[in-house]
Amino acid sequence: MRTLVLFNNKGGVGKTTLAYHLSHMFARLGHRTLAVDLDPQANLTSAFFDEDRLEEIWEDGKESILASIQPRLSGTGDIAPAKVIEAADNLFVLPGDLGMSRFEDKLSQSWPGGFQNDENALRDTTSFYRIVQGAGAETGASIAVIDVGPNLGAINRAALLAGRASGADVDEVLVDITPHTLSVGALDRAIGSLDADEGDLATVPVIPRGTAVPVERSETVQTVVQGQKEAHLPIAQGEAARLGDCARLGTVLITDIPRSPAGSPVDVTFRLDLSGVLHVTAVHRPSGRATEVTIADGPARLTHRRRARARKALAEPRRAPEPEAPPRGAGPGETERLLARALCERAARALAAPEGVSADARERVARLTRDLERGLAEGVLDDLAAAARREALADALLDL
Ligand SMILES: Nc1ncnc2c1ncn2[C@@H]1O[C@H](COP(=O)(O)OP(=O)(O)OP(=O)(O)O)[C@@H](O)[C@H]1O
Ligand SMILES: [Mg+2]
Repeated sequence: MRTLVLFNNKGGVGKTTLAYHLSHMFARLGHRTLAVDLDPQANLTSAFFDEDRLEEIWEDGKESILASIQPRLSGTGDIAPAKVIEAADNLFVLPGDLGMSRFEDKLSQSWPGGFQNDENALRDTTSFYRIVQGAGAETGASIAVIDVGPNLGAINRAALLAGRASGADVDEVLVDITPHTLSVGALDRAIGSLDADEGDLATVPVIPRGTAVPVERSETVQTVVQGQKEAHLPIAQGEAARLGDCARLGTVLITDIPRSPAGSPVDVTFRLDLSGVLHVTAVHRPSGRATEVTIADGPARLTHRRRARARKALAEPRRAPEPEAPPRGAGPGETERLLARALCERAARALAAPEGVSADARERVARLTRDLERGLAEGVLDDLAAAARREALADALLDL
């Protein structure tokens, strides 16, 4: 079993949220997963269960990890096997408990004893490790995700030991990466022509997908003509070779470039910080002319306007639900149905007449007729949708 402890000394940075989503995703990918809540705040446990279930779990701590720890706390024996709760297919939860904070003192007292091979002290220090391993064996989990609180206390020290499943100090360290390649657009030989569409520009990757952040990388592009006055450098996110197939993030524009030969180097530097903000600097090397832009709103991020709209929608009292759409299969009313049928017949007659009009117009009428007939047959059109298709067909018929 591989164990993953999500630790950060800073509070509220998303450890628990990430632990919750990773656990669900591992389980959905088919890995039997054990989610362990070793934070006495028990936020991970609250994420998995509703209020009623939580009340049951925490009643006397009988279903939480406290039940396993209790004999150590009261000095009556060794850990009891953990009770895990199946939260979804492939996903088991070992619930946390507020009462775990009582273990903090005991763990810190036991820590020095471990170095003197005091068996009791070692039992305390290794209790999380043994509980997690036991729960892993019981559930057949291949991954354990452990959530901990934001501190360097004794519980976390023991929890990190519990994460040391394989004997190595640390198996893997997860770091933030950029999920998309960040590029600058440039002309390449394949296009060559100066009047190429911006979308046809080649993407020159500056920070490749999967790079750990924070990161700073540079690339050099070149001016294209002699005496070029401006360098217009589009910035994009995505994996495609052409700018038009990537998401545009913005543009850096260097203006008033003094006369210099074609092919003068322009150094483009991307600095991506931990918040996902991209700082771009472009410098025309011969003249030192430079421009900087900061791109904070990626395409995946909500714009200020969309955020404001979403907030307003949330603040507004809920409106009555929209009237239900007509049930599938009902189709348009009788009048609309008659009109539509009549038009389809007219279209069929027009198409049967000797050819004399453009093949394109005939093809269009045939396609729109098929669309309308299919819509009527499947009963998926209401009056409005049927009328819209009928009007499109009537328009096309004028060309025949
Ligand atoms: N990727 C995210 N984007 C926006 N909000 C997030 C994201 N991840 C978590 N949050 C929110 O941030 C808040 C803190 O998250 P969470 O409880 O996961 O942090 P934590 O590091 O576990 O906190 P603690 O240190 O107290 O255990 C929550 O309100 C959560 O919904
Ligand atoms: Mg947390």
